[in-house]
Amino acid sequence: MAAITAGVGSSHVPAIGAAQDNGKLGDAYWKPIFAGYDWSRHWIDNAKPDVVILVYNDHASAFSQDVIPTFAIGCAESFAPADEGWGPRPVPVVEGHPELAWHITQSLILAEFDMTIMNRMDVDHGLTVPLSLMFGAPDAWPAKVIPLAVNVIQYPPPTANRCYKLGEAIAAAVASYPGDLNVQVWGTGGMSHQLTGTRAGLINTPFDTMFLDKLTADPAALRSLSHADYVREAGSEGMELVMWLIMRGALGRDAGELHRFYHVPASNTAVGHIVLVPEP
Ligand code: DHB
Ligand code: FE
Repeated sequence: MAAITAGVGSSHVPAIGAAQDNGKLGDAYWKPIFAGYDWSRHWIDNAKPDVVILVYNDHASAFSQDVIPTFAIGCAESFAPADEGWGPRPVPVVEGHPELAWHITQSLILAEFDMTIMNRMDVDHGLTVPLSLMFGAPDAWPAKVIPLAVNVIQYPPPTANRCYKLGEAIAAAVASYPGDLNVQVWGTGGMSHQLTGTRAGLINTPFDTMFLDKLTADPAALRSLSHADYVREAGSEGMELVMWLIMRGALGRDAGELHRFYHVPASNTAVGHIVLVPEP
């Protein structure tokens, strides 16, 4: 049987990828950020997921204003790192798991989530930076990855509550897969940040702390927040946090926190990271 054994939340700041790719991990600015994931790299070495369902948002790399899927799932054999303007990151190609991805897609669509099916998709920093933070710089990623892209770029994104429900439907889909697989769900993006406009540079540590506190034991408080609440408190790009609720919804009613990390600054945002496990 396939089972979701853990959930990971992580920021996906592009400059972290650039720092790794340019050998700057030892710099004073980046060192504490990577150190905040030391525990997790050790943990995941032992946890050994077969597949990661990696919830992220595309930043105008695979999609443009021409086509904007609310929820898109990657069913391909593999996904190439996207060229975000400086050439693709020199990280391994992301290997997919088409069989599980198609199973989840069918299950979600029958559960009335209208998924967009991606048979080809390049993946940008939203997906590759969390892989780097969690796995370091291996020759090949040690887990298969099913990318799940969420529109948090163009208004209106899905609501926080809808995201949580999608996570619940993903859990049901994985539980009904006939194969034996150790599956993790990751939610990426955030934490509070705003990249443009008069509030550019916004970081709201009290809100970020509240979000991390409630995620484990009281996600209902985060599900009920509106788009306006997220934008007001976390900034326009802080909207990315709704993707963490897909991860949380996939863990079931009760979850336990194994690890947490929070650090300011990293580029224009606060780096937030959490490792959760479902509790029976
Ligand atoms: C930045 C960009 C992002 O996409 C993100 O999620 C966080 C930070 C940045 O440019 O600082
Ligand atoms: Fe982002």
